[in-house]
Amino acid sequence: MRRIHIKGDVLCTLILVVLLCILLFAYQNLIPIWRTMCIEHGTSNTRALLGSAKERSHPSQALDVPHYNQKSKLHAQTESMQQNESKYPKTRSKLNKKDLKRKATRTKAPPVPTLPQFDFKDYLRRKDQRQFKMLIDQPKKCTGPNGAPYLLIAIKSMAVDFDKRQVVRHTWGREGVAKNGINIMTVFLLGVPQNVTELPQWDRLLAYESSIFKDILLWDFKDTFFNLTLKETHFLQWVNTSCSKAKFIFKGDADVYVNIENVLEMLEDKQTNEDFFVGDIIVHARPIRRRNSKYYVPEFIYGQGIYPSYAGGGGYVMSGHTALRLHMACKEVELFPIDDVFLGMCLLRIGVKLIHHVGFRTFGIDRPPAAPYLEVFDPCFYRELILVHSLTVPQIWLMWNLLHDPSVRCHISRGSTILPFQWGKEASTKDKIKDIDYAYGLPVFVTH
Ligand SMILES: *[C@@H]1O[C@H](CO)[C@@H](O)[C@H](O)[C@H]1NC(C)=O
Ligand SMILES: *[C@@H]1O[C@H](CO)[C@@H](O)[C@H](O)[C@H]1NC(C)=O
Ligand SMILES: *[C@@H]1O[C@H](CO)[C@@H](O)[C@H](O)[C@H]1NC(C)=O
Repeated sequence: MRRIHIKGDVLCTLILVVLLCILLFAYQNLIPIWRTMCIEHGTSNTRALLGSAKERSHPSQALDVPHYNQKSKLHAQTESMQQNESKYPKTRSKLNKKDLKRKATRTKAPPVPTLPQFDFKDYLRRKDQRQFKMLIDQPKKCTGPNGAPYLLIAIKSMAVDFDKRQVVRHTWGREGVAKNGINIMTVFLLGVPQNVTELPQWDRLLAYESSIFKDILLWDFKDTFFNLTLKETHFLQWVNTSCSKAKFIFKGDADVYVNIENVLEMLEDKQTNEDFFVGDIIVHARPIRRRNSKYYVPEFIYGQGIYPSYAGGGGYVMSGHTALRLHMACKEVELFPIDDVFLGMCLLRIGVKLIHHVGFRTFGIDRPPAAPYLEVFDPCFYRELILVHSLTVPQIWLMWNLLHDPSVRCHISRGSTILPFQWGKEASTKDKIKDIDYAYGLPVFVTH
């Protein structure tokens, strides 16, 4: 009897312990899941605004939901990189506790600080004024001894971002003639800085940069986010007047890494007198109607529920033929404050087929889900891509040098290492002014 008694006690304790464990488990796991389920249900409206899960996201979505973007990616890096899939994972059970907590805090936390309200009514009033004077031009850029460029690289830049221009000039945006006779030219597209106190000498800087590098295009409009559309139209105008013989054009941001070798390879079999437009194509994106978003667009500016397909503004490639047709088309389209969507409207007007290429990572690279802290700054990975967005100046410089270092070997599907890009004998103007580069205090830039 006594023995059984003891066994019973042990059993009771065991059962109690097990019950406690179950309770603890439930508290830690089930309640957050239940909580997120409620939250997710509550935010379904927001999600509708952001577009359905199968659609490609707009940059704003990447900005507005950073936690989803960076942490909760469940799938391995798939080739197609459907950005939104990672943000709205279907299998909730796989989410770890951290993700769930993040989600919970995200929805509880007050919304992003409200941006100063943009005066859209004023925008409508002024939008017929779309011709601005050119303050710095490069009229002879495309008629030099090497003739018109095979590839014209056009980069949106701001006056203060001298360091970004320098790193692009010395890395992937290098001008020159490659061994096979392909010549590349680069221009930077600028407006007048909005905040002059940030860089009081901006005009002297740009004038001097222009005289040295001959790559500055400056127009007399304020360099603001919503004026990027003006940058687009004025650039197309410049192509029409000063560089209409360019065979292909890359246009993009300065904080990207572009694998120019891969761009050239992609263009090898393309006809120059036909329409061609390739990039990270975003389809069925919906206008953002939340006032605190950077990309907020009220209904009286754009009434329709869906934007035309467009290429992510981080970078895209088109033929010169398409650029000239776009110049004509964009003149007929009312100005729209978001430049990449505006270009999508012009493209729709002339019916150009937009080609989506997985090598354009205009949303950057997501970390693998299993190792969120893993560094994806891997030259072997970048070798396969065309464009990666959001790199810092030192990252761009380092990546370019790693990719052009013959001792860095990759065991990749192509079987062999890709030979570093070789420049021909003809020195570009920059090689001649190497001394001046050093005078700038930038001796770190290695000329290969
Ligand atoms: C302009 O830039 C200066 C220096 O960075 C800064 O202190 C100031 O707040 C800025 N002004 C505006 C209106 O952004
Ligand atoms: C665009 O630039 C023009 C000319 O400088 C300026 O009047 C206007 O306010 C700017 N628009 C935006 C949206 O910043
Ligand atoms: C430039 O644009 C004008 C119209 O603005 C057009 O007549 C002309 O043909 C264009 N030039 C080229 C080279 O396409």
